[in-house]
Amino acid sequence: MSTRAVYPGSFDPLTNGHLDLIERSLRIFDELIVAVVTNPAKNALFTDAERVEMIREATRGLRRIEVVIFDGLLVDLVARVGARAIIRGLRAVSDFEYEFQMALMNRKLREEIETVFMMPHEAYSYISSRLIKEVASYGGSVTGLVPAGVEKRLAERLPQR
Ligand code: PNS
Repeated sequence: MSTRAVYPGSFDPLTNGHLDLIERSLRIFDELIVAVVTNPAKNALFTDAERVEMIREATRGLRRIEVVIFDGLLVDLVARVGARAIIRGLRAVSDFEYEFQMALMNRKLREEIETVFMMPHEAYSYISSRLIKEVASYGGSVTGLVPAGVEKRLAERLPQR
């Protein structure tokens, strides 16, 4: 029986930390569905379609992965696609409280679904999409922190201050 997991997030935009987690997940699960939440925040930099495109571009060389957009409850998507696990990344202790609450709420909603926490490579432990956008918006280099395609789109999208 093949094992399937869902890796949800805003991915505004995808970072190398996310990519690292995708690759690690594929070592454990047979299939991975990367689920991009629609309209994550009013101030999202990239549209749903752009965020999906960037992930598809960066994961072109990977098999056993699918990228989808979702709306509504995450656990409903997980059940609908026949997965049993949600993958979430933990970079530092500061991530813990929010992740703990979400994992337990998701368990309350659907007890059969487990949240699996994974740590990205330490080289990426300080990266977040929010910081990437901030640095890029001030003209700072994000080379090596995001896939090349994401770096290009950031440069196109953000007016250099
Ligand atoms: O990358 P993010 O912004 O940390 O991802 C958060 C995400 C998308 C996983 C979370 O907001 C989510 O699951 N949204 C879908 C709605 C939902 O199920 N909410 C209840 C979570 S306990």
